[in-house]
Amino acid sequence: MAAADNPSLATENGIPRHVAIIMDGNGRWAQKRFMPRAFGHQAGVKAVRKIVEHCAELGVEVLTLFAFSSENWRRPKEEVTLLMSLFVETLQSEINTLDKNGICLRFIGDRSAFPDILQAKMAEWEAQTKNNQALTVVIAANYGGHWDMCQAFQKVVDKMAAGELSKQPISSPLISEHLSTAGLPDPDLFIRTGGEKRVSNFLLWQLAYTELYFTETLWPDFDQNSLDDAISSFKGRQRRFGHTGEQILNKSASL
Ligand code: IPE
Ligand code: IPE
Ligand code: MG
Repeated sequence: MAAADNPSLATENGIPRHVAIIMDGNGRWAQKRFMPRAFGHQAGVKAVRKIVEHCAELGVEVLTLFAFSSENWRRPKEEVTLLMSLFVETLQSEINTLDKNGICLRFIGDRSAFPDILQAKMAEWEAQTKNNQALTVVIAANYGGHWDMCQAFQKVVDKMAAGELSKQPISSPLISEHLSTAGLPDPDLFIRTGGEKRVSNFLLWQLAYTELYFTETLWPDFDQNSLDDAISSFKGRQRRFGHTGEQILNKSASL
């Protein structure tokens, strides 16, 4: 159930269960070095490796990474092609290590835009890692929050029309169960690198009660210490979910 429906405070040691990241700033990182944007994307992959490992060490349960948005198709064709090949090559070369390290891989986003062969690979990587329990890494590829909500509403409508779902009022849990993130807790901590303060059509529904953290650090420079800083900011916050601060301190409210 979504956090907005079923508020819960952070895990016992204060580590967020679910961290969602907009990995932004690769292009600017490269441009600062008078290098092509591709160089920044390659450096960005190294940062992903570090952050996945660190999340597993910290005991984060779910890490969602925004790899390619439904709007990123608007970029120059060569950049889109480069991003796609980096995506495939990185996963292909890392899949066995990820599997060995207990990482469960899951993709969210509209896969129908990808070539059949890539869609098959994605299904294969998910199947290979589906029983792993150390950390779930969710990769948002051709993902948009509007797309996610539309496809959830569509599924509900179709199931009702087919009689697979009884006619009932639309409710928040019903929508959550049909989003691409079904079964995952909502993000506790959202991080956006690269200095922009916007959500750029990421997990719009799921971010209802997420703590937001923005940093100027460009994604390729985001390392273990940067993640520790974001988590200590998270730990210092009081999540109230609509209650008063006093209620939270006294734990008098049934949270
Ligand atoms: C984020 O970095 C990576 C993707 C969108 C895939 P950018 O490529 O957006 O980097 P900037 O924002 O141009 O610096
Ligand atoms: C968001 O970054 C998408 C990803 C990181 C994959 P963008 O760089 O595409 O976002 P905008 O266009 O600046 O909002
Ligand atoms: Mg950007």
